[in-house]
Formats: sequence, structure tokens, C-alpha cells
Amino acid sequence: MRIINPGGPIGVFDSGFGGLTVVKELMRQLPAEDLIYFGDTARVPYGTKSKESIIRFSIENAEVLLKRHVKMIVVACNSSTSYALEVLKNKFDIPIVGVIDPGARKAVEMTQNKRIGVIATSATVNSYAYDKAIKYFDSGVKVFSQACPLFVPLVEEGWMHKKFAVDLAEEYLKSLKRARVDALILGCTHYPLLKNVLKQVMGKKVYLVDSAYEVAGEVKRVLEIISKNRKGKKAQYQFLISDRPQHFQAIAQKFLGRSIHVELVADK
Ligand code: DGL
Repeated sequence: MRIINPGGPIGVFDSGFGGLTVVKELMRQLPAEDLIYFGDTARVPYGTKSKESIIRFSIENAEVLLKRHVKMIVVACNSSTSYALEVLKNKFDIPIVGVIDPGARKAVEMTQNKRIGVIATSATVNSYAYDKAIKYFDSGVKVFSQACPLFVPLVEEGWMHKKFAVDLAEEYLKSLKRARVDALILGCTHYPLLKNVLKQVMGKKVYLVDSAYEVAGEVKRVLEIISKNRKGKKAQYQFLISDRPQHFQAIAQKFLGRSIHVELVADK
């Protein structure tokens, strides 16, 4: 595999804020790495769109990042990973990491009763990407999936701490509680922002798989394999988005706990 720019930043994209959960983990686990994040806020949500649209958006997002000379791309969106990861890997000649396999692997490792729940967007659920990945790691596991389309706008509004977030989660998670899953994959990068609510609703005994954490570990492994991780320097972070920069900046700063500069990218 050709490494275009070995000293360059890691590129990360998502449809909106969700990928920031991956960014936060990358900042924590790989503190010397420069990051460029692209949030496609003009076209969020992806999870309700068709496979064809999600593939097209994902290619365009990768191109935005490649123009900035990223050395690898993290597809920090489950909907994009479900439909476009293989397309991106075939099209672009740099390492590309998705969010599905790392989360599926962790869930298989953590389940005791071999009953795993997956909550995700409708696109991800309908793609069966998690079912396939989980069965690949352990064919004896039963998978129970639930699409939770209203979680994404809730997070995009910054309403994670409202009382009705708990009511909504109670409704969405009912069937998974009935199914007695003991591991629950947060199969959308927006959902770790609702972790407290999900924990409260599912109870202490259910292990919540935060794919953001697992993905950062995967990136670390890939960088170690290709020996391109940088050590001992202060990292630079850039944030690009396709719409509503102020809104993004306010929520992102609160979530990341640092002030950031946000650049509007209009030339996609
Ligand atoms: N954060 C994204 C995901 O992981 C998508 C949310 C959306 O745009 O629907 O699927």
C-alpha cells in the first residue's frame, strides 16, 4: 500500500457530530497525531438515506480529506462504514479504517450469554453489517438489532441530557431488554454521547460497546503496523464542516472540552 504522506494528519469523517466521539478517543490514545475532521453537517443524517447516496457522500468526504494530504482515513460513521468502506478501500490507496469490525469484535469478547444487541441508524441495521461482522467473529452469537433514528437529531440538537432522552431510550430499547442481551453495541458514532442515558435504561449488567474507543485502538494498531505514528510533538487539530459552523463549534467545544477553530468547506 502506498503511503502518500507519512508525516501527515489522520483524516476522520462523519455526517455530523458523531465522529467527534472517535476524535476524542484518538486525541486521548494517540496524543501526538495531527487530526483533520470533516463533519458533513449539510447532509446529516446519513442513516435515513439510500445506499447509493451514502456511498457518494462518503467518496466526496474522503476526497475533502485527501485534498488536505491525510495519511489515513477513519470512517467515523457506521452508516458510511456499512455501505461504503469496501468502495473507499478499493478506490483510494491509503489505509482506511471503519467502525464496525472493532465494535463487533469487542462485543463478541464481552458477551457471556452470546446475545448481543445492536442499536444503530436504519441504514446500518438494514445493511446487516454488524450481523455479518459478529457472525464472522463467532457464528454462535444471536444478534438483536434496533434502529433508533431519533437519537441522531437529538444529539445534533445537543439535547442528550433532557428528560425525554430517557423516555425515548426506554421505548427504543424495550425489545433488546426483552431479548436479554448482555452486550449492547452503540452502532452509531452519535450514540456514545447518550451513554449515560443508555446505561441508565439498560442497567449495570449490560456491557455497552463504545465503538469510538475500539476504533482508536484499531487506528493505533494500523499505525504501528505501517510505523507512521508520530511521537513527542504537540498535535494540531483541524475541523472542517459543510454547514452551520457556529452550531458545530459550540457543541464540539463542549464535548471535547477545548476551544476549536471550525472551517466551512463549501467547495465539495
Ligand atoms: N454517526 C453516524 C453513524 O455512525 C450517522 C448518523 C447519521 O448521519 O444518521 O451511523
